[in-house]
Amino acid sequence: MNDRLTRRDLLTLAAASGASLLLPRLARAEETPKKGKTLLILGGTRFLGPALVEAATAKGWTLTLFNRGKSNPGLFKDRPIEEIHGDRNVEADVKKLSGRKWDAVIDTSGYFPRQVRASMSVLSSQVGQYVFISSISVYTTPMKPGMDETSAVARLAAGTDADAIDKISEGNYGALKLLCEEAAEKAMPGKTLNIRPGYIVGLRDGSDRFTYWPVRVQKGGEVLAPGRPADPVQFIDVRDLADWTIRMVDAGQNGVYNATGPKDRLGMGTFLETCKTVTGVKATFTWVDEPTMKEIGISSDEDFPIWVSPGSEYGGLGDVSIARALKAGLTFRPLATTVADTLAWWKTLPEDRRAQMRAGLKPEKEAAALAALKARAKKAKPPK
Ligand SMILES: NC(=O)c1ccc[n+]([C@@H]2O[C@H](COP(=O)([O-])OP(=O)(O)OC[C@H]3O[C@@H](n4cnc5c(N)ncnc54)[C@H](OP(=O)(O)O)[C@@H]3O)[C@@H](O)[C@H]2O)c1
Repeated sequence: MNDRLTRRDLLTLAAASGASLLLPRLARAEETPKKGKTLLILGGTRFLGPALVEAATAKGWTLTLFNRGKSNPGLFKDRPIEEIHGDRNVEADVKKLSGRKWDAVIDTSGYFPRQVRASMSVLSSQVGQYVFISSISVYTTPMKPGMDETSAVARLAAGTDADAIDKISEGNYGALKLLCEEAAEKAMPGKTLNIRPGYIVGLRDGSDRFTYWPVRVQKGGEVLAPGRPADPVQFIDVRDLADWTIRMVDAGQNGVYNATGPKDRLGMGTFLETCKTVTGVKATFTWVDEPTMKEIGISSDEDFPIWVSPGSEYGGLGDVSIARALKAGLTFRPLATTVADTLAWWKTLPEDRRAQMRAGLKPEKEAAALAALKARAKKAKPPK
């Protein structure tokens, strides 16, 4: 019987028995039991949102999600989570949040400063803290290794009206995220936490940028690998980001933080070797340098996700300083765990989705590139 109890059941039982034991003492000392925080998430149902829900739920917090009800409807239908449906771009919908109080709000769905201002017009007097999920893309290019929170940031071209922009592009994403951060800080000075994640990876990642690598290595054989094994790469398991964000909210910490990982420098080679160890397959890695990539028709950006060319304008993306976040308690699960769990999650997806890997080299392109490399090597060999 007992082994059928879930962890949640056990926690509920423990809480219940603890409460009854405490009752006489509470009455005497007029203490109130320590209660979890109330948290509003503007979003919550795609990728980072569900991980935040898990992390906050584990702390026993009371959750409200505000979203349109379009992404993964019913995801939390069996949970005691309040969902308010509305479009954050519609004033009347944002007003649905009026007259309520939350200890904190986490904004995972803000991309335009006008969205943050609209949320703030209702929430700034109703919440104790505003957490904005920003991006490492707020930094200007060229991104240099060692970028920290004081590094130069991206700005829209002079004279551009941010409120007239309605489409996110690679060229304006970072600058708009920065304006969102600034709008949040302006509305709630000193009570805003701006988190700048690097690549977020793992369960529910719809981009496949990270997933491509474990899945490709698991297929075994000769794997085409970018650059040099020592090239640094950075990313953060969505659960590590969520757990730390919730701990920061718990501690009422504000400010601006880069948030990526791992703790110590990780080379692309170690990343791939970890995928090999976790999957236990026979795989070899053939490293291709950038000039050769170009010659054999490989795009360093599109064909090799997560890896960034150290010489490119995004070169610093593999070597961002996370010293401030580490000091504030950011921790990481082992890379092998992220790889194994990502593969396990990938397996649960429908076959037609798995057949459509959204990032990385298509198998035919990889095979053609490997053949081209072999032909070049043969040609370069001096005749006997
Ligand atoms: N992925 C990365 O590698 C990466 C890296 C750095 C930073 N980031 C940032 O991390 C954040 C993560 O986003 P996520 O998608 O994982 O968060 P999420 O909270 O899991 O999902 C996005 C939520 O926003 C809701 N939403 C979208 N448009 C809305 C609207 N107009 N009104 C109300 N709700 C709306 C969606 O629900 P409905 O569709 O049902 O409305 C969904 O619940 C983003 O801000 C992104 O810029 C991501």
